Amino acid sequence: MGIKKIATIGENFLTLFGTTPEIVAAAPGRVNLVGEHVDFLDGFVLPFAIEAVTTVAIARRADPKIRIISSQQTSELITVNMADLAPMTGEAWTRYPIGVIWAMSELLNFKGGFDILIDGNVPLGAGLSSSAALECAVATALNELFSLNISKPDLARIAQRAENIYVGMPCGIMDQSVSIMGEKGSALLLDCRDLSTEHIPFNISPLGLELLVIDTQVHHELTDGGYGERRASCEKAVTVLGITSLRDISVPDFVARASELDETTYIRAFHGVTEMKRVLDGVAALRAGDFKEFGAIITASHISLRDNYTVSCPELNVAVETALSLGALGSRMIGGGYGGSAIALIRAEQTEDMKKAIASAFAAAGFIAPRFFTSLPSAGARVIK
Ligand code: GLA
Repeated sequence: MGIKKIATIGENFLTLFGTTPEIVAAAPGRVNLVGEHVDFLDGFVLPFAIEAVTTVAIARRADPKIRIISSQQTSELITVNMADLAPMTGEAWTRYPIGVIWAMSELLNFKGGFDILIDGNVPLGAGLSSSAALECAVATALNELFSLNISKPDLARIAQRAENIYVGMPCGIMDQSVSIMGEKGSALLLDCRDLSTEHIPFNISPLGLELLVIDTQVHHELTDGGYGERRASCEKAVTVLGITSLRDISVPDFVARASELDETTYIRAFHGVTEMKRVLDGVAALRAGDFKEFGAIITASHISLRDNYTVSCPELNVAVETALSLGALGSRMIGGGYGGSAIALIRAEQTEDMKKAIASAFAAAGFIAPRFFTSLPSAGARVIK
């Protein structure tokens, strides 16, 4: 079944399902300024919601069937019976929206099914959390459709549960939280221990600065194991050291206890302990308007992800090194790693030169051509209709 790209999602929904959607909701992807691989460790993170969103249109059905189609995927209609919902089954992409229905099923108390149309412009596989955008758009839509009044942190927790259990990816809570709680003009300082937030203004345009996003076009598969293994190392460090969390030990105290940990556990947990400090230092730099210092902090994060946590890849490193060699204030890989995107904090007038230089460095290294976006903090999930 084809989808007319030019029509609105409501019109497409009508063409496909013969009825108008009851609800349309949208949720954004994210970039993360600093605080990588610490959300599952009760850490602090500093992401922001990007402008690109995933939009879902939903109508209830009387029978217990889910019919679902995404114009970002194969545009084929997939039908699933509500009674057959089970974690880790079904086509990979459908697990995200269906996982949210599964995670909310007890709250919905509804015997029928759903027609769902998904559309959006969050680039897939670019490390910009298209999966969280999809989960959060569905969670926001169902919250409104059934007048559930679920709080924003709880909606983020539901979306995370869908991803952890239904999709099978042991992610933390950062992507879902910022997709739901992000605000225009600010980065979100999120305390992953209790999901308390502070909005930190990140208004770089008047300063002549730009945040360039470099999508390496190398696609990562975070369910592959590297993510979970590293998370497990950090959790092991917490157990061996007998502390509540890596957040509850200072960098000097952690270093002093190095001999209690094996080398891999130590170096991975060292990333966690230092990265949490970098987030707080980064926020202090932003509050002081010191973007030079902020840039240095994000670059230090990259070095730690590359050398200690070892989740970078040659494409990400070339992007970062090229940006820095051209005078970026700071640059780093973002997200899970092994591909996806890097960010560079640059002077706006350098944008075109920077893109050219990075594209040529990729060509010279024999990598596939990168894609570029610029991004500013945008609004979180919302109901559109
Ligand atoms: C992925 C996960 C997040 C977070 C990042 C790394 O995006 O979904 O929970 O752990 O990786 O910071």
